[in-house]
Amino acid sequence: MTRIAVVGLGYVGLTLSVALAKKGVTVLGYDREPRVVGALQTGRPHLYEPGVAEELPALLEERLRVVPELPREPVDGAVLCVSTPVDPVTREPVLEPLRDAARAVAAAFDSDTLVVVRSTVPVGASRAVVLPELVARWGRARLAFCPERTIQGQALRELEELPQIVGGLDGPSRDAAAALFRRLTSRIVPVSSLEAAEMVKLINNCHTDLIYSYGNEVALMAERFGLDPLELIRAANLEYPRPDLARPGFVGGGCLSKDPYILIESARAVGHEPWLVPRSRALNEHLPRHVARRFLELLRETRGGLEGGRVLLLGFAYKGWPPTDDMRGAPVLPMLDVLRGAGLALRGHDFLVAREVLAGLGVTPASLSEGFAGADGILVITDHPEYAKLDLPALLASLRKPALVYDCWRVLDPEAVRAAGEVRYASIGYG
Ligand SMILES: NC(=O)c1ccc[n+]([C@@H]2O[C@H](COP(=O)([O-])OP(=O)(O)OC[C@H]3O[C@@H](n4cnc5c(N)ncnc54)[C@H](O)[C@@H]3O)[C@@H](O)[C@H]2O)c1
Repeated sequence: MTRIAVVGLGYVGLTLSVALAKKGVTVLGYDREPRVVGALQTGRPHLYEPGVAEELPALLEERLRVVPELPREPVDGAVLCVSTPVDPVTREPVLEPLRDAARAVAAAFDSDTLVVVRSTVPVGASRAVVLPELVARWGRARLAFCPERTIQGQALRELEELPQIVGGLDGPSRDAAAALFRRLTSRIVPVSSLEAAEMVKLINNCHTDLIYSYGNEVALMAERFGLDPLELIRAANLEYPRPDLARPGFVGGGCLSKDPYILIESARAVGHEPWLVPRSRALNEHLPRHVARRFLELLRETRGGLEGGRVLLLGFAYKGWPPTDDMRGAPVLPMLDVLRGAGLALRGHDFLVAREVLAGLGVTPASLSEGFAGADGILVITDHPEYAKLDLPALLASLRKPALVYDCWRVLDPEAVRAAGEVRYASIGYG
């Protein structure tokens, strides 16, 4: 496995290309978006992922070639890392990009090429969508499913550290895929079929959605009881030898906002209506709107009305840690649907999301000092570690009092907030 084509150069394909090239594999990276190809060819990644911008220029001169079309040059393997979104209205998986990618691979290469599906897909899609495209052209195929399970912000490290699940159409396909990923990690987990590997990926992500949703359920109940959810959860977990409760918080991102729908559709296709997966997703999708409404209620109480108020929103990416610029499934988006209609002036700040993106959402981009100055309300939406290090006495002194600080992830010191005088502190389910 010395020459590999990577199809789709987003977060998954680009990090995989860089990781493989660093290990001495010759990589041909292809994306159908000219914007993506153009940026990468000049060594400037179109997305933020730690390590990529640093490694890319040297690799481009050596083993990594970014191309606008798949050249008809033999490769040992082709890894499909294309988008597999769900339809925004029906939530049904959209598999055309995957089918197109398989067709392009079949047209460019030959039947000796191992094809690896790495995009997250419905159970059965490698066999039902990718395989027919290959067989139609080649008569036979070598096919594997090897899910990506890294977290954005630590992908290059996790590609080498996480066990790699490998499922094959047959034994030789599985072994060839295992040999490819052994270039990256020593921990290969072979499973019995393509479908088993596809399902492992989905149950991992839906489990995450589910356990976080329970922390959120606890927070929503605590809010009604007038209890502090964090106090409850910390006490419940302390030295208790059963599974830990999760802290409340937003569950977003490109994957968790869609993979539950992919598992739901997969289950329905075989006659099982899932019980938990849809409810967890619904609860996690409810939370940002709930928080935005609660923020408005508290702000109204604090200053006796909303009209003419100024609010600073901190954190536009879908998460703060590990830091990312990715806004897919970001909680701020549904929050803005609620906040926009309230007659408030909205300013915003993010350490990585570009100012133009904030402006495009109808929010005035601001530095931290500009944003705090004269604000009536601060809504900290992500747990970006730099927000925990703010010079609170100085920034809070510049608020228009009485003011509200709503700190979704409890990254600020509540005592320091209250010490500012006439500043109310609240969080998800608290205050
Ligand atoms: N982002 C993550 O951390 C992550 C983690 C695990 C799994 N996944 C899964 O991996 C897949 C890719 O995710 P991503 O975050 O990299 O998406 P992305 O949107 O960042 O990148 C996908 C890229 O594929 C390109 N593309 C789409 N169709 C193509 C085609 N037919 N030919 C060539 N290029 C094509 C797009 O232009 C885009 O640049 C998805 O299935 C996703 O669910 C993502």
